[in-house]
Amino acid sequence: MSDKEKSRFVPQDELNRQKEFAKKVREVLSSLYPNGYTPHAFVHSYGCQQNVSDGEKIKGILFSMGYQMTDKPENADFVIYNTCAVREHAEQRVFGNVGALKNIKRRRPNMLIGLCGCMTQQEIVAEKVKKSFPFVDIVLGTHVMHKLPEIIYTKLTGGKRVIDISGEEGIIAEGLPILRDGSSKAWIPIMYGCNNFCSYCIVPYVRGRERSRKSGDIIAEVKEVVASGYKEITLLGQNVNSYGKENGEISFPQLLRELNALDGDFRIRFMTSHPKDATRELIDAMADCEKVCKHLHLPVQSGSDRILSEMNRKYTVDDYLKIIKYAREKMPEISFTSDIIVGFPNEQDEDFEATLELIKKVGYDLLYTFIYSKRPGTPAAKMEDPISDEQKSIRFRKLLSVQEDIAYKKLSDMKGKVFKVLCEGEGRTMENSLCGRADNNVMVEFESTDKSLVGEFVNVIITSSKGYVCLGEIIK
Ligand code: 5AD
Ligand code: SF4
Repeated sequence: MSDKEKSRFVPQDELNRQKEFAKKVREVLSSLYPNGYTPHAFVHSYGCQQNVSDGEKIKGILFSMGYQMTDKPENADFVIYNTCAVREHAEQRVFGNVGALKNIKRRRPNMLIGLCGCMTQQEIVAEKVKKSFPFVDIVLGTHVMHKLPEIIYTKLTGGKRVIDISGEEGIIAEGLPILRDGSSKAWIPIMYGCNNFCSYCIVPYVRGRERSRKSGDIIAEVKEVVASGYKEITLLGQNVNSYGKENGEISFPQLLRELNALDGDFRIRFMTSHPKDATRELIDAMADCEKVCKHLHLPVQSGSDRILSEMNRKYTVDDYLKIIKYAREKMPEISFTSDIIVGFPNEQDEDFEATLELIKKVGYDLLYTFIYSKRPGTPAAKMEDPISDEQKSIRFRKLLSVQEDIAYKKLSDMKGKVFKVLCEGEGRTMENSLCGRADNNVMVEFESTDKSLVGEFVNVIITSSKGYVCLGEIIK
């Protein structure tokens, strides 16, 4: 490995040092909680799948130090909120939930409270926590998660609160322990950070520059989870299409092909793809690889070229539609989902109408819709915005209703089709049913009380639909 290569990774010595701290924490905990009591930890991740994946690593680290997980903060000896900063609403929820811990901590004085993730990486937030939430013991930024054992040790032995939002921006910590939430679906990050600086988005400021994991490490992790029975792998990155660009390794489509060639009965999903980097090569790889789900989450954000340019998205509606068209030619059964922001500064009626037109043209199976949220420090936060909140809400409701009609129609067109469904658990719409997602990401429910199917693939023929769920019957 070259020196430049090495500098992208947390050195092995440092990882070993943290393992030593983990051992020491174990010892401290057993003297703090004698008589065979196992201390409990509550870890909650807000926001995107990348955060959920980080949360699984936090759980893995805590488990390695002797904590047992609980889903009740009031029973926990260590509570950590892994936060999201993408919208203001998410931040307010975190502050509300942290505030509620104050009383619990009064009853459990030994309880430790930690905050980490994108929100805490912002200096103003770290300052606010410092001043207004004195009962929070640990504040960690996004670049120091691997130091959790050392930080907990310091806190448990010295008593002082630890606030660490430092860190070399853009390093990767390989080999951290992971405690995965499920037993059939695994999240595997392939890269971290974002270089795109969309004008509304805080992520590049809190997650640092793009850095890709080595393909060998990713392949080894996929092999490992497949060997332990996982059936669905979701490759994660803010923009998976720029995988490998900064380190000169294989490209994302090549990575898909390599993973597809691995043995085992599993399927591959990925997110998120930035349309500016969604190439024909990517679509060709999706079409060629039988293990890759025929579903593309391709966030368009707006259907107006003027707004796309203000958003710094670096593609036009025409570019976007070309890639959709090519994908449909190659994979007629492909489904598309997207993210849309309503109410970007100075969005006019005609811009919004263009968004409605675009979503009708594409015919998305599902949309993730957001009202623009001003994020201090981003270029959009300084833009003039004469549009009222009320006007934005009206547009938002209109978007939801137009999309609902599109999605219902798409789902009713699925009648008679056969899908390979990964069974996830009990259905919610029908009694005595199980449910799971099809290859195209649609939720499918089918009559069955055979719990042994959970975590397995089943073939289901679709007979009808109800809301956003397809209903069907198992076939051999
Ligand atoms: N306001 C509203 N939505 C946002 N997103 C990102 N930043 C903002 C913001 N400031 C949305 C985008 C992105 C998704 C993950 O969150 O649609 O694709
Ligand atoms: Fe944010 Fe744009 Fe990066 Fe996505 S691609 S994380 S929207 S800056």
